Amino acid sequence: MSVKEEIARRRTFGIVSHPDAGKTTLTEKLLLFGGAIQEAGAVKSNKIKKGATSDFMEIERQRGISVATSVLAFEYQGTKINILDTPGHKDFAEDTFRTLTAVDSVIVVIDVAKGVEEQTEKLVEVCRMRNIPMIVFVNKLDREGKDAFELLDEIEQKLHLSVTPLSFPIGMGYDFKGIYNIWEKNVNLFSGDSRKNIEETVEVSDIQDNILDKLVGSDAADNLREELELVQGVYPAFDKEAYLDGHQQPVFFGSALNSFGVRELLDCFVEIAPTPRPKQSEERLVLPDEKDFSGFVFKIHANMDPKHRDRLAFIKIVSGVFERNTPYLHVRNKKKLKFSSPNAFFAERKQIVDISYPGDIVGLHDTGNFKIGDTLTSGEEIHYKGIPSFSPEHFRYINNADPMKSKQLAKGIDQLMDEGVAQLFTLELNGRKVIGTVGALQYEVIQYRLEHEYGAKCTYEPLNVHKACWVDPEDPKSEEFKEFLRVKQRFMAKDKRDQLVFLADSAFSLQMTQQKYPSVKMHFVSEFD
Ligand code: G4P
Repeated sequence: MSVKEEIARRRTFGIVSHPDAGKTTLTEKLLLFGGAIQEAGAVKSNKIKKGATSDFMEIERQRGISVATSVLAFEYQGTKINILDTPGHKDFAEDTFRTLTAVDSVIVVIDVAKGVEEQTEKLVEVCRMRNIPMIVFVNKLDREGKDAFELLDEIEQKLHLSVTPLSFPIGMGYDFKGIYNIWEKNVNLFSGDSRKNIEETVEVSDIQDNILDKLVGSDAADNLREELELVQGVYPAFDKEAYLDGHQQPVFFGSALNSFGVRELLDCFVEIAPTPRPKQSEERLVLPDEKDFSGFVFKIHANMDPKHRDRLAFIKIVSGVFERNTPYLHVRNKKKLKFSSPNAFFAERKQIVDISYPGDIVGLHDTGNFKIGDTLTSGEEIHYKGIPSFSPEHFRYINNADPMKSKQLAKGIDQLMDEGVAQLFTLELNGRKVIGTVGALQYEVIQYRLEHEYGAKCTYEPLNVHKACWVDPEDPKSEEFKEFLRVKQRFMAKDKRDQLVFLADSAFSLQMTQQKYPSVKMHFVSEFD
């Protein structure tokens, strides 16, 4: 197969949802359809289980699992599908945001009863801002839930999407009879038998045909006809270009647990979902079918075995082919590196591969060379954009609790920050170190990992910070900026990339500062133009 054909048959995507909507179940059912696993229960949830001994011990356990579920690849009807795992827990939102830089499209899972939930809103917003093509899967139709139209409205309003249903439920919950597949023009009857993988579908090319009455009963058939008429009147027809540009989102209904509606979703997905997309670098737009290899690190998994300093850097291949034992340029370090055992990921295992194509993810063993966001190329000095840090929500001073181990502490902090566990800010005034995190759980994780992996001890001290603002003066030489730096000296810090950050202590003081120094722009994201 030519490289072009290999690219054309790849689909790399992520599933996003609020915890409990059914992401793990859907992932598993997709793998079952792909023949990648033989039975349900094989995919471990990356959820933090409620009632676990302690949340952070549970996180450590999950960290073990999540190496295995980071990338789940399988073949379906000649298509190579790569599912990238995204943690649902809100404290790990930053991990999910980073993974979203490596997907070419997304499936959003929504619980029919709960509707649009908080985490879904946040994640979809990120996808929307990046124009990532999205398909929505409304799950748990076997349960009583919201009316389909009401739910479609809610999706449009809360998620600011422009939807078009490609399937439609016939009844719901106790009365759930099946779904009408608008995309394929057939009816899929629900039997509630989750052991069945391939459901039987009955072709109904004309919904006026009384075969529909025979299948679901006259009342349900008439109801469906009315509803489909309304769908036609209210929603635009499916437009593939609009979907690919991120302007229209097709919606499917089903029940992942019952393997119902999943085949329809998958069949449509392989047909419409984008092949690996071009990616913008600081220098130029890079196309997947270019001859030279390039890729970027979007995730680092470290120290699964504390006795060996093992790190696995996950690289999304953007262009060209990645070959084993070939020297590639680590652009930030300006070093050539060769990899003798790059890993490719399959449903339940990883395996050394000789060659990988755009859209694929390779896992490279690393001894500390990589940071999240690093670019690897055949030789060209390009830098991929788009792995920004967001302002953390929590801030604490970190102190050394064992003076004999200050080196270990520094190294541990450094490496955990490379992994993207949290963000480090160093105060300009006195060099004190501040750790910023998305969730409070991370502090425990950091403390635990510093001790167990680096033999260092730390304590925290509260610090009153409302937001980290990346500072962007219109004129760095202006009097206004100099005054800002002088007056706000106590609040100034540098991030890991030596960018200047203003740690605002309250929303009010931030607002006052912005009013007083209008030429000093504040960003809540570390990357800005
Ligand atoms: P998540 O990864 O998005 O967090 O969700 P997950 O797939 O773990 O699903 C959350 C719960 O919802 C699970 O039940 C799962 O069995 C259930 N579920 C998923 N899809 C459907 C569906 O189509 N219909 C119904 N009725 N339930 C569904 P649980 O009791 O929390 O876990 P488990 O003990 O059953 O695994």
